[in-house]
Amino acid sequence: MTNKEHSEGITMSGGGIYSLATVGAKHVIDAATPMVVDAIDSLSQESITTGFTFSDMGTADAGTSLSMIGNVIDAVSARVPEAPISIVYSDQPRNDFNALIANVYGLGPFDTYLDRRDNIFPLVSGTTFYKQIIPSGTLDIGFSATAMHWLSAKVCNISNHVQAVGAEGEELDAFRAQAHRDWRQILLHRARELKPGGKLVLINFAKDDQGRYLGNTGGVNMFDQFNLIWQGFVEQGRITRAEYENMTLPQYYNTVEEFSAPLQDQDDPVYQAGLRLEHIDSRIVKCPFAESFAQHGDAARFAEEYIPTIRSWNESIFFNGLSADRPLDERRQLIEDYYGTYRDIVRDSPNGHGMDYVHAYTVISKTS
Ligand SMILES: C[S@@+](CC[C@H](N)C(=O)[O-])C[C@H]1O[C@@H](n2cnc3c(N)ncnc32)[C@H](O)[C@@H]1O
Repeated sequence: MTNKEHSEGITMSGGGIYSLATVGAKHVIDAATPMVVDAIDSLSQESITTGFTFSDMGTADAGTSLSMIGNVIDAVSARVPEAPISIVYSDQPRNDFNALIANVYGLGPFDTYLDRRDNIFPLVSGTTFYKQIIPSGTLDIGFSATAMHWLSAKVCNISNHVQAVGAEGEELDAFRAQAHRDWRQILLHRARELKPGGKLVLINFAKDDQGRYLGNTGGVNMFDQFNLIWQGFVEQGRITRAEYENMTLPQYYNTVEEFSAPLQDQDDPVYQAGLRLEHIDSRIVKCPFAESFAQHGDAARFAEEYIPTIRSWNESIFFNGLSADRPLDERRQLIEDYYGTYRDIVRDSPNGHGMDYVHAYTVISKTS
């Protein structure tokens, strides 16, 4: 699979559904807001006065970061009331940028921050974070949440699982090596973009020091559940072995040590480019749907609410794993049945299901 095919294969749900289905992702960003405000407070007055630039990389439809960016505007205005503020939203070219525009300009279900004051400039880019997105030396704060676990390429299919968390041996080694190369590439591009003294606040999926990761914090392991259902489809003769393996998520969850390494090793090109690790910690944000189920106790409601949140980010990969020789309707039906099976499992035996988020919250500075 080429990079182009890869990037075309990953899309979040469109039509503004992404932000509505993923309230948990908004909680993750809200928890990072104090770090972002502190980073703004640390900038030089001159840097802000000459024009403040913020980037939100892998923004999807921008709905989950709207309130955080409202806080960014307040924090910058508190420093320099009239400072021009550019907000650069970026994602892959196939992202639903119409939904993004609707959310940012207040045409969707959310309030816009644009009427807070003049001199705010939202800008939109379809450039991947594996390339330089904005001109060198112009970025004050680079932000990204829940996006950089997507690798630049699927290095191989995983023969026994759908995600690297279940990979073994050479397949796991290949994913790990790709993830390390990709993290360095992301950082080197950001090092070019940042002004001296600028900062990155990056909130990335991680594997924590107790081996916990997204959907695996006790109870049912969400990725094992994905895999069991997909394997079941092979056993029932509904999909082929090749289709099973082709549905390999091009993702990897770094540990805190893996994230830190290029920022602490003085011989690493990332360190030499002037990036320094200021802070990193791992945090868990609870699955809002499981938390709400604990209150209302209605298993059918839980299943109906929970499945769309996982579907919003992995449906395109399951769909693209299926052979293009199958008629479109058949592929669509298989995907409906797949999520329908997951929904029924949750409805019939709800306890232990949920998608708790496990992230590394990272602050990186560019030396002046
Ligand atoms: C789970 S969404 C996160 C959206 C938002 N940042 C949030 O936290 O709610 C992941 C986003 O990363 C984007 N993404 C994946 N790979 C990317 C890449 N190489 N460059 C830019 N965006 C990418 C996807 O298109 C998707 O919109």
